[in-house]
Amino acid sequence: MYGKAWDDMASEYDNCVEKNQDKVISNYISEEIKIIANLCKKIIKPGKKYTIIDLGSGTGRVIFSLYKSLGDSVSYYGLDASESMVQLSKAKQSELNFKNISFLNHDVTDSKIDSLFDDSIKIPMCVYNTIGVIPVPKRQQFFDNMTRLAGKEGFALISAFNGDDFAFAAPQIYNPMKSMVKRIDEDSFDEKKIAFRNSLGYYSQWFTRNQIKKLLNSNAEPIPIEVSINNKIHALGHVFVDRDL
Ligand SMILES: C[S@@+](CC[C@H](N)C(=O)[O-])C[C@H]1O[C@@H](n2cnc3c(N)ncnc32)[C@H](O)[C@@H]1O
Repeated sequence: MYGKAWDDMASEYDNCVEKNQDKVISNYISEEIKIIANLCKKIIKPGKKYTIIDLGSGTGRVIFSLYKSLGDSVSYYGLDASESMVQLSKAKQSELNFKNISFLNHDVTDSKIDSLFDDSIKIPMCVYNTIGVIPVPKRQQFFDNMTRLAGKEGFALISAFNGDDFAFAAPQIYNPMKSMVKRIDEDSFDEKKIAFRNSLGYYSQWFTRNQIKKLLNSNAEPIPIEVSINNKIHALGHVFVDRDL
């Protein structure tokens, strides 16, 4: 699902994600950002230049949240294929008046993506299961881009929904986001393919932990994104990194 299809979802995106009143979504995204910020803090050292690159940045929520916790000594880029998402991010940025942030309309599977950035240490990331909407034929290029950008001194990060517990986790996540995905059909939760799909063409692949570790070529254990549901803790997603930090 490329730029144009996401244009239609842009106006509902914030209502369904960062402003969602549903506790499962709000607790999930705050836990997810906490984990990501802590991982960044582990490698960011004074005296060196860092760039955080959010691949498939939507309306910029990850960049703005990280900015609040890491500050403006880091540079931030949000790349998204949807012009509407980019425009919304830019509008939010001018209200917030945050510095050192750029939002670009760019395909994150472009093999020449490096030319957008300077020679600072890069932390490329892809959050909220965005990896699940990258088309299969472009997936390897996408991971190659991440690894190359991270180089020796940065690291690559993927945050994804928990494909090992798809049957439980998927309805918890998509039901509160119905106004964004627009339709949930009887066969939307495809347990065999571990994918959410609907008759309007929305498709999001989920992955098991082992699949993502393999794609990232990483032995590092992922960090669970835990949310309490009916007084029981569930790992609805994980944050993966491409190396031990
Ligand atoms: C599920 S949203 C996630 C947004 C954001 N990462 C977040 O966590 O809130 C997926 C985003 O990825 C973007 N996207 C999908 N394929 C892309 C591609 N090939 N290049 C750039 N952006 C892409 C979509 O336009 C959409 O904004």
